[in-house]
Amino acid sequence: MLVAAGCTLAVGQGLKFVVDRGFSAGDADELDRALFALLAIIAAMSVATYVRFYNVSWIGERVTADLRKRVFDHLLTLSPGFFEVTRTGEVISRLTNDTTMLESVIGSSLSMALRNIVLGIGALILLMLTSLKLTLLVLGGLPVVVLPIILFGRRVRRLSRTSQDRVADTGAYVDEAIHEIRTVQAYAHEPQDRRAYGDRVEAAFGAGVRRIRQRALLIGAVIFLVFVAVGIILWIGGHDVLAGRLSAGQLSAFVFYSVIVASSVGAVSEVAGELQRAAGATERLLEILDTPPEIAAPASPSPLPEPPQGTVALEAVTFAYPSRPGDPALSSLSLKVATGERVALVGPSGAGKTTVFQLLLRFYDPQAGRVLIDGVDVRTADPRAVRGRIAVVPQDPVIFAASVWDNVRYGRPDATDAEVRDACEAAYATEFLARLPQGMDSELGERGVRLSGGQRQRLAIARAVLARRPILLLDEATSALDAESERTVQRCSSRSTG
Ligand SMILES: Nc1ncnc2c1ncn2[C@@H]1O[C@H](COP(=O)(O)OP(=O)(O)O)[C@@H](O)[C@H]1O
Ligand SMILES: [Mg+2]
Repeated sequence: MLVAAGCTLAVGQGLKFVVDRGFSAGDADELDRALFALLAIIAAMSVATYVRFYNVSWIGERVTADLRKRVFDHLLTLSPGFFEVTRTGEVISRLTNDTTMLESVIGSSLSMALRNIVLGIGALILLMLTSLKLTLLVLGGLPVVVLPIILFGRRVRRLSRTSQDRVADTGAYVDEAIHEIRTVQAYAHEPQDRRAYGDRVEAAFGAGVRRIRQRALLIGAVIFLVFVAVGIILWIGGHDVLAGRLSAGQLSAFVFYSVIVASSVGAVSEVAGELQRAAGATERLLEILDTPPEIAAPASPSPLPEPPQGTVALEAVTFAYPSRPGDPALSSLSLKVATGERVALVGPSGAGKTTVFQLLLRFYDPQAGRVLIDGVDVRTADPRAVRGRIAVVPQDPVIFAASVWDNVRYGRPDATDAEVRDACEAAYATEFLARLPQGMDSELGERGVRLSGGQRQRLAIARAVLARRPILLLDEATSALDAESERTVQRCSSRSTG
């Protein structure tokens, strides 16, 4: 960057040389030599520009890649409670849009700002060498240009944050509507969705326009001020040449350098808006990175007993979900399950059965009482160790967009093919898996859309069986099954817990 800027500035000196020695002195040889020198400078400038552009863009890409990984890694540590209050679409928008904006800012705007600052300062120094009097005039005009940049810049930054928030809103809406497209179409809900999404898009547009208006004002004001200032300086300089205090070559160089100063101040002010936008995006990403995980391992977690016992106990547990603090889902619930014991929790929908599982997995901490796994209070243990003792088949079985192999191996990636087949056998899934077009290699589609509810549930059971954890939690594992499959699964779950 310094070499490229130096070359640009050297062109001005070449100009002065050509005008004073070549044209004014009428020397053709000097003119030829000066032009060859100019060519060499321009070649050096091209090479330096290539190196600068490549490296700075590389940094932009790298920062984005690192930031994406950091934010994603951090998201994985946050407790389910965080995702109840933050919409997934919004988080995804932050991870993709905000980081992409940083990439463009660091890769281009920031380097533009730096380059223009270097150029501007260099040109200013050369201005001083050419004519001190005119340079002082330039410096006197500078605050008039810089002040509006700072004032407008602040407003641009605030509006940029609002604008990105509105964009995230649209992302969140699309996320939900597309995921639930079958329900949307079955209930002919399209007009409402179209309107609701349209409103969000227009809100994002409005926020964008308010930001653009500020930036347009900023750019217009700066260009006006810069060129008025340059005009005044040229007017005074022109009089100096007429009076013989300045040579024609010096005035040419002065014009060249003052145009560089003017355009670099203009460029910096334009880029300043971009940088303010990036600051808004960074703020939002840092907010995610600064959210501490609510469930974390204590400084020195107490170890769980080896070998695992597979016992579970709740002691007078009272728990209300964070989003409903006044309305406990469980009140003073006590429960003891011994090694090898099979216990069923029975109750109407909303009784709190799933909630018990969430506490055992330590997705939340109870407000009163204790939860014990293998005799250890889960609060004193590492949550990953606690979860490592539990295999769970959730009420809505989760299937990933991958093959049957990958889905079943989810809890134990190093399981052999034979073990996977055994687990599928135990879950009575072998028969329907054999009928899939590519058997075990079949891709199951996003969230397992290519399977029936009962098939999804049996795969989830196979996954839990293969994980070989001492505690097996089945959350209404037969809810999605027809009568025959239900009997099958009941046989299979008694086999896997037995
Ligand atoms: N994430 C949540 N935030 C707030 N309340 C919840 C949440 N999940 C469940 N509840 C409430 O807690 C109660 C128990 O729910 P749950 O344990 O899912 O019942 P079930 O016995 O049907 O599995 C219900 O009243 C439900 O509305
Ligand atoms: Mg439930």
